[in-house]
Amino acid sequence: MNSKQIAGEKAVDYIKEGMIVGLGTGSTVYYTILKLSEKVKEGLNIKAVATSSVTAHLAKQLGITIIPFDQVDAIDLTIDGADEVDHLFNGIKGGGGALLYEKLVATSSKKVIWVVDESKIVKLLGKFPLAVEVVPFAYHQVMNKLDELKLNPIVRKKDNENYITDGQHYIIDLFIQKIEDPYRLEKLLKSIPGVIDTGLFLNIVDTIIIGSDNTVKIINR
Ligand code: A5P
Repeated sequence: MNSKQIAGEKAVDYIKEGMIVGLGTGSTVYYTILKLSEKVKEGLNIKAVATSSVTAHLAKQLGITIIPFDQVDAIDLTIDGADEVDHLFNGIKGGGGALLYEKLVATSSKKVIWVVDESKIVKLLGKFPLAVEVVPFAYHQVMNKLDELKLNPIVRKKDNENYITDGQHYIIDLFIQKIEDPYRLEKLLKSIPGVIDTGLFLNIVDTIIIGSDNTVKIINR
């Protein structure tokens, strides 16, 4: 079993009968969804909210009931992946472009679990490009501002076109390398008109499940 699979599957132990579950996006939570679908087939009764169209499609195909986000008041538990996590339980997400819906679902959840492999644990955030979701109408102005701030912005592309999120926005990736003060950076980025949200997930996760060669480590905040 690879480390993503070990971590992803372990998280299913936290899903209990009757829960509303937030399902994240990415190659680690993929294993969570697969394992969860087995439990559903065995009779576990849950409903889920998806953080992306890709996850919604996968989950539905596997027989998991997906309900719209606007039909839930609270989510019991959200399980998601992460691109980087530091020792203060802060993280970078959005490598897969689903950061906005992931943050909306996570911040409406009673508990948030991240499933990662060891390579995601870092001393300092920032080596992984930080995604910023922006209003397409204003992306040129936001780019100029981010350039001025020397944050090395690059508009994310897919098939030579600007990448479009599920929320119909663009993503600008910031190549920062070292984020000394993530709270200050989050505040600064959110103050730029046209920025909708960022891939900085601060003070959001409760439990991190870290998979490595055939073992799993669980850390709680
Ligand atoms: C999606 O936008 C991301 O936030 C993912 O959750 C994150 O990139 C982790 O993905 P992997 O599990 O594929 O590494």
